[in-house]
Order: sequence, then C-alpha cells, then structure tokens
Amino acid sequence: MSAIIENLREAINGESNAKRKYEIYAERAREENLPEIAHLFKAISTAEAIHIKNHIRALEVITNSKVNVEDFVEINEVVLENNSKDTKLNLIDAINGETYETKHMYKNFIKSSKKEGNEVAELSFSLARKAEKVHAKIFSDYLKKLEKHEIIDTQKIFVCQICGNVEFGIPPSVCPICDHTEKFFKEI
Ligand SMILES: [Fe+2]
Ligand SMILES: [Fe+2]
Repeated sequence: MSAIIENLREAINGESNAKRKYEIYAERAREENLPEIAHLFKAISTAEAIHIKNHIRALEVITNSKVNVEDFVEINEVVLENNSKDTKLNLIDAINGETYETKHMYKNFIKSSKKEGNEVAELSFSLARKAEKVHAKIFSDYLKKLEKHEIIDTQKIFVCQICGNVEFGIPPSVCPICDHTEKFFKEI
C-alpha cells in the first residue's frame, strides 16, 4: 500500500476517534453544567466529520474505488470513556490531540504527499491541518477561561462545511482557510 493511502486511512481513523471523543466530552461538560463548553465540543466534533468526509473522498479519488471505513476504522470506546474524567482534563486532552495533528501527523502527511506529487491528498491534509490549528487555539482559550473561573459567553458557533474551520458570532464573508463564502458555514 502506498504511503499516501496508509496516511489517509490513519487520518480517517484519527479523526473518527476525535469526533467520537468530542461527543463524549460534550456529554460530560453538559453533566458538569458547562453548556458553552458542551456546545463547543459538539461543534468541533462536526468539524472533524468534515475532515473525515474530505479524506474519504480523497481516498476514493486516489484508489478509484468505494471506501468502506468499517474495514479499518477502530473506535476505542473503552479508552475514550475512561479518559473523559472531567472537562478540564478533556480540554487539555483535546488541545494535545489537535496540536499533535497540526505539528506532527498532518505536517508529515503533507510532506509525503508533496514528495509523491499527490495534490488530492495534499489539499485534504492541508485544509484539515489549518482547521486543527484553529481548534487547538479555541480549546486553549476556553481552558484559560475555565481555569480562571471566567464566564464563557453563549455565542453562535459556525462550522465551515468545506474545511471544518470554526467561527463565532457571525460567519465571515469568506472562510480564511478554504476561501469559500459564508453560505458554506453552518450554525451548530
Ligand atoms: Fe480538530
Ligand atoms: Fe472553510
């Protein structure tokens, strides 16, 4: 199997686990009466779903065949449930995950897609990497507020349906990551 295919599969697996994890973390935040953080985890879980969709499409284009995620995606439910101890730890875990994806996983995957001249995979990895950077920053901001016992305002959260970028309040006229217009933002 070429490195690109292996990398796309690894990314789909990683994103699927992140998506599931954030859904569990959203439930936990709700139980802890932290509805704004629950809302954020829910919104970012939908952003990871966009990355999964993009990577699947890239894999289908590259292999010219239908992709069956059940063949290789393994959701580690037991580990996820055990890890979701409290929202502060969950935010730290989310920041670590997003940072790993940005600084290591996607960085390396982009490098190898460039080396192989595979623009389809490169685009999917680059969009995801830029969005993960935004996710890490937002999770860090929320963690700081939680640690300082600051009130987190209730805000509208919008997710770009093309790249998984996350914006608050009102969607930008053009997505700073993928250049698509505001109509591609969905309120979560
Ligand atoms: Fe993310
Ligand atoms: Fe976007």
